[in-house]
Amino acid sequence: MAIDPMQYEPKGDKKNSEFFETYKSKIYERRRSAGLDDLIGHIRALVVQVEQGDALAYLQELYLMGPYRFSAVYQNATHRIFLLTSQSEFPRLIVMEPLTSNYMDEITMLNRLYPLAAKKPNARYVGEIFHTEDVKETCKTLESHNIRFNYHHETKNPFLTDSRVVFSFPSDYTSNRIGYCQVDIEDFDALQLGERVEIDAAEIAKLEQLAEFSKSNRLEELILGVDHMATRVLAGEREDAICEFLTMSNYYFWGAYNIADMNSSTNVNRNGYVEDDKTSPAKVFTANNIPSFVNSFEKMPMPTEDFVRNFGRRMHHVAYEVQDGNHRAGEKNVDYVVDTIRNKGIEFLAHVVGECKDDPDLKQIFSKHSKYSILITEYVERCHGFEGFFTKSNVAALTGAAGQDESYQHGKVFD
Ligand SMILES: [Fe+2]
Repeated sequence: MAIDPMQYEPKGDKKNSEFFETYKSKIYERRRSAGLDDLIGHIRALVVQVEQGDALAYLQELYLMGPYRFSAVYQNATHRIFLLTSQSEFPRLIVMEPLTSNYMDEITMLNRLYPLAAKKPNARYVGEIFHTEDVKETCKTLESHNIRFNYHHETKNPFLTDSRVVFSFPSDYTSNRIGYCQVDIEDFDALQLGERVEIDAAEIAKLEQLAEFSKSNRLEELILGVDHMATRVLAGEREDAICEFLTMSNYYFWGAYNIADMNSSTNVNRNGYVEDDKTSPAKVFTANNIPSFVNSFEKMPMPTEDFVRNFGRRMHHVAYEVQDGNHRAGEKNVDYVVDTIRNKGIEFLAHVVGECKDDPDLKQIFSKHSKYSILITEYVERCHGFEGFFTKSNVAALTGAAGQDESYQHGKVFD
């Protein structure tokens, strides 16, 4: 039974402005009357770009850390485009790799602005692709709502401009794009991604070895799929980022929690048409409560806005759900998964948070960010039928841990 966003009472204790409440309702109403709710379906793919030469190493990391497996690779004028699949009803993962090391487009320029993003100027989460029943109608309607699509301005990658996926212009609030696609995502050739190419047999063998490791160590069966993706934005743009995403999707605002100790809030949006978030993962936005310059009065921690100042507005982490249960007596699956992956050289921030003793609860952990995608991987296990989306105490601990990952100190102009 679909959630009716007009009737739904959002959860949480983060106060939203009157502006937000007014326009949220207007957006829901307009989506319905303009037919967008009927046109737009589930998220069918996530798109990530890595540096030239990093794609195969990134694929190896993905094999070890999650459920995605290589299906096909295409080449266009500027990029190799790798398609990865997990369960067929879950989104695909598309990894784009420029063909040359000096490749530059709007992603490069954006990353170069920020001190910690500049080192990997082509690495960035790009966006999600939604299914639509009619791509032309969807874009026409969204354009009438002042949403901009890509007009070949600085983008050279034909996947973003000339494939069967139509991508929005990067958001001013999140830097993420949203793509819309009418073609069945399974029908790779129909997506018009370029020429189908092959990867080296030796590289395939390495991936197969990792797939075998994942299978024999039960990782394949325990790491299920993407549960949510979390974008970090500036304090003053939190409501704009949410409202913009609601305008462009068929999601509803599930609720927001104030994580006062971390000077932050976590804002969750979910697809009300799915029973299982993994078939169309939740979109989370995190922002400081008060912006950095005013925080200089308060001296609170502010890992969220520090991240934005270091890396730019962008996707911060992608969370995989871990099958609930015990690997053996006294050891939850998530603890086992993390230990197994850690033994293969993946580093984590702090340890698993949450108890999961006998009551409904959830356990979560963040990895260190990938040196290929800059994305943190989260693992989340909802124990004993935990029905909520998260707990405030876990989010506070995770936010604090993430702050330790990128402590960039700004140099002073005068010493
Ligand atoms: Fe998360």
